Amino acid sequence: MTMPATIKNVLQRTRPVADLQVQGWVRTRRDSKDFSFIELNDGSSLKNLQVIAKSTLPEYSEVLRLMTGASIRVHGDLVASQGKGQAWELVADRIEVIGQSDDSYPLQKKGHTPEFLREIAHLRPRSNLFGAVFRVRSKLAFAIHRFFQERGFVYVHTPVITGSDCEGAGELFRVSTTTSAKNPQNDDAPAEFFGRPTFLSVSGQLEAEAFACAFSKVYTFGPTFRAENSNTSRHASEFWMIEPEMAFCDLACNMDLAEELVKYLVRRTREECAEDLELFARFVDKELLTRLDFVLARPFHRITYSEAIELLSASAENFSFPVKYGLNLQSEHERWLTEKHFKSPVTIFNYPREIKPFYMRANDDGKTVAAMDLLVPGIGEIVGGSQREERLEVLRQNMRQHQMNEAEYKWYLDLRRYGTVPHSGFGLGFERMLMFVTGVPNIRDVIPFARTPGNAEF
Ligand code: 4AD
Ligand code: MG
Repeated sequence: MTMPATIKNVLQRTRPVADLQVQGWVRTRRDSKDFSFIELNDGSSLKNLQVIAKSTLPEYSEVLRLMTGASIRVHGDLVASQGKGQAWELVADRIEVIGQSDDSYPLQKKGHTPEFLREIAHLRPRSNLFGAVFRVRSKLAFAIHRFFQERGFVYVHTPVITGSDCEGAGELFRVSTTTSAKNPQNDDAPAEFFGRPTFLSVSGQLEAEAFACAFSKVYTFGPTFRAENSNTSRHASEFWMIEPEMAFCDLACNMDLAEELVKYLVRRTREECAEDLELFARFVDKELLTRLDFVLARPFHRITYSEAIELLSASAENFSFPVKYGLNLQSEHERWLTEKHFKSPVTIFNYPREIKPFYMRANDDGKTVAAMDLLVPGIGEIVGGSQREERLEVLRQNMRQHQMNEAEYKWYLDLRRYGTVPHSGFGLGFERMLMFVTGVPNIRDVIPFARTPGNAEF
């Protein structure tokens, strides 16, 4: 078989073409007296190709039995369309039914709720909305690589199975073998496959730091796992994270990069996914395009954590969670700052050390660490990062305060023993970024097969 033209390619033609071949899935079929119209889609674009099947086709009786969801191959001529709504249509010479469907096919033309579509996660990519979401996801992933590669960053694959708990938040999934899990008394099965407890990675940061201390600028882009039992629209148990790490770079340089990255990704999506974004603007979030253009046009705000606390305390808003120096900002606080107060993305930096992980660099005030979070309207935090503690003794003291076992992190401390440098980095949540550029309000709807507490079907 030769690779057929995609429907996207066909629709971009500027002249009639004889003898084309396309394939795809039937979205709808409409019959009139002398012919049937078939709307065909192959996932390459939001637009369908209109196929005209004349009643004189020898296989016309099969055409009349074609159901929504069936797969077909069409041979025919591309001609200017007589009808409204499309420039071209394919007049079929021959239609081959590859796989018939039946009337139990759950995706019908009428709009379905996102909740219903989650139950058919294997079929929802064939819908307009999810087709658009996953095309944008693919473009966005590529744009991330482009951004870093254009700037000389080295892509590093950090391990999925790890012995360290980078964030220290205890939200780890254990890794074990099925043999030891089924029979803990079985002496033949090793108690620990790796000779030590291991987990699915919550972050590739610590390993990325080792590579940054060799390549200067690196980034990771891979799956991340967190056993947070929070059933929110912004948390998944398995999500993708981008983690750049830069040697010879302080907190200000880190914040610059995060803001530049977010803007770059918005601009690329705006340019490369225009048609799909139009769909989101029509059916998901009316404000989407205005918001994205606004984000591109204006500088982001930057304030310290203390300033954020002051603004929140002075606001007339009735928050459900307390606002007090030393407490974490909740998503309602983050959203008030971005949506009501600044009406733009905001980077907050210098957080109290007590609420942040062991690796963040202590500031000279003795109270805060060089941490930063980038917040965007509609979502809240999409980036979390910091400058790292590069001073061996300060880091060891932090580890003691966090009751960490120094022996397990010997390799990490070595990075401070041999040629230590100021360095910093951050993590961008890939799905949260995707939610931001599409306006899709639930993280479950931007992941092909979502994993959340109590949910790992498919
Ligand atoms: O702020 P976090 O926890 O930072 C880290 O993991 C650092 N080690 C990153 C670094 O400095 N290299 O997570 C980073 C981002 C968050 O801002 C958020 O966008 C996303 O990852 N994130 C999640 N996304 C979906 N579901 C979850 N459960 C998430 N937890 C974090
Ligand atoms: Mg965070």
